Amino acid sequence: MCGIIGAVTVESVSETLLEGLKRLEYRGYDSAGVVLIESEVLKFYKYAHLNKSIEKLSKIAELNSSLATVGLAHTRWATHGVPNDVNAHPHADCTDSIGIVHNGIIENYRQILLHLEKKGHNIKSNTDSEVVAHLIEDNLLVEKQSNQDDPLNFVRAVRKSLNLLKGTYGIAAVSSDFPGQIVVAKNMSPIVVGLGNSGNYISSDVAAILEKADKFLYLKDNQIALITQDNLRLYDIDLNEIDFKTTEVTWSYADAQKLGHESFMLKEMYEQPVAFKNTLADRDINKLELFFDEIHFDPNRLMDIQKVFLVGCGTSFHSAMVAKYAIEHWVRIPVELDIASEFRYRDPILDGSTLVIGISQSGETIDTLAALNFARKSRAKIISVSNVVGSALTNNVDAVMFTRAGPEIGVAATKTYIGQLAVLLGFAISLGKFRGTLFKSEAENYFRELLSCSDKIDMALKRREDYNQLAQKLSGAKDFFFIGRNMGYPTSLEAALKLKEISYLHAEGYAAGELKHGPIAVLDDQSTVVGVATKNKLYDKVLSNLEEVRSRGANVFVVASDSDEEIGKHFENIFYVPDTFELFSPIVDIIPLQFLAYELAKLAGNDVDRPRNLAKTVTVE
Ligand code: F6R
Repeated sequence: MCGIIGAVTVESVSETLLEGLKRLEYRGYDSAGVVLIESEVLKFYKYAHLNKSIEKLSKIAELNSSLATVGLAHTRWATHGVPNDVNAHPHADCTDSIGIVHNGIIENYRQILLHLEKKGHNIKSNTDSEVVAHLIEDNLLVEKQSNQDDPLNFVRAVRKSLNLLKGTYGIAAVSSDFPGQIVVAKNMSPIVVGLGNSGNYISSDVAAILEKADKFLYLKDNQIALITQDNLRLYDIDLNEIDFKTTEVTWSYADAQKLGHESFMLKEMYEQPVAFKNTLADRDINKLELFFDEIHFDPNRLMDIQKVFLVGCGTSFHSAMVAKYAIEHWVRIPVELDIASEFRYRDPILDGSTLVIGISQSGETIDTLAALNFARKSRAKIISVSNVVGSALTNNVDAVMFTRAGPEIGVAATKTYIGQLAVLLGFAISLGKFRGTLFKSEAENYFRELLSCSDKIDMALKRREDYNQLAQKLSGAKDFFFIGRNMGYPTSLEAALKLKEISYLHAEGYAAGELKHGPIAVLDDQSTVVGVATKNKLYDKVLSNLEEVRSRGANVFVVASDSDEEIGKHFENIFYVPDTFELFSPIVDIIPLQFLAYELAKLAGNDVDRPRNLAKTVTVE
């Protein structure tokens, strides 16, 4: 949830670090800090100030004019220890000669703290992270005594310090004794190294260093890297040096800019047709292999699959729900749906004939990573769906399907959701064809229909003004229920999540038929119910459910198909969307509801790109 950036270059690093912090700020932060190595002395600059500390750092003349060529920076989102200057990263050892930044949680930091205090260490903060700097301090002393001037002493000291840590980490460390080195280590929290012309970089998020580097290496768990201005050395946990291949990232720096849009979220909403089209480009339903961007197993094994589990969190869970309906319908395999944070704790029954599909736009959500780790141990086949090439979710799996949505900076997922729907629905058709539950001609027709959805998203996006006028009628409304049945249900969940996230209004997504089993008691004339009532086999039932809520006084809004000539006779407030084949309707029906959330958030004066309490990538359990 925190952001890390570091650089070791031929020129001054201050600007790179401050710019990098700005690129990471979309994640939200309550403090930020920088450490620079100047003439073999570490200089720390740290501030706690909700969403303003980077601005404050940028105004420090000494920091701006520093000629230091090595440094680390960090944006913090407090987990252990309140947001204040002392708790802000980077943290130092007792003598300010080691600086570290950390993302993750050191679960056993209290024990380590007691151990360090007994040894006389002076711990200044209340964080779980500072202990790492002091452990490195101790270990470096030992290394220096036994190996004197060995340039690998620092990397060895960091490695030894990891021995004691329980929990998750992406760590970067610098030492005044090794002024040209940055050492990074990873366990469950992302670290990417970027190699550039003027030097080398590290970050928790590739978007922060896109402009500086052209080749990237995503560290795997239990790897350690030593980065100097002209070199990168990668080690396993036993410090054996390992070969590596860098990845080229197709995202450009411009992709991660607002480019004149009022917010990243709005820009990304308008990018949805392209994200959808790109994600399906070059996929062929007649060649299942082409759905996989990486494949490490014989796809014929998919003939043996008896059961599928789909796991994800938040929006990714909602796309999993759409995929469940589609796979069960077309492939006729039972599909279970799991919130990733629940999956491994409920002891699911998995074996070699189970397929587990993990979905995460960031590819770094710890709950989803842990779910796939659990599945791996049970011999299940594992496929991951991610938007980020090289992300942890794509390691050690049987196959990977990438969404090709480009970097998503806005905290609320929009274009990556559409990308997930594209690839999962296409995969479902292809799997049906492969396993013989769909005829070739049927599969081709469905796929053609799927491809046409990109134009429908575009048509819906062009109706922003109409949707906004309806949304404005809801200014001041406080309680929302989004209801739908069948494919309208995941859309309702996703719409409620979007509204909660950026407008902070109370919203619930419900299966329309379930409302009468309890929640209807909550409704009165202060409630708003938005029904997803596009044309599908349960259309009449959804309308009956909407009548029920209207008779309890609720203010009813409806998402309806363009061809629906009747609905206007029954309801006044209608978000019309292009007619879409039932199983693909979530792709189009969500568009007006994204605008609804966006408009209400704007009316409330909220920062849509940085909603309170939220982080774009959730790397803690
Ligand atoms: C919703 C949202 C979150 C994420 C969730 C999973 O707008 O952004 O609910 O969907 O945190 O994130 P990923 O997909 O990165 O695993």
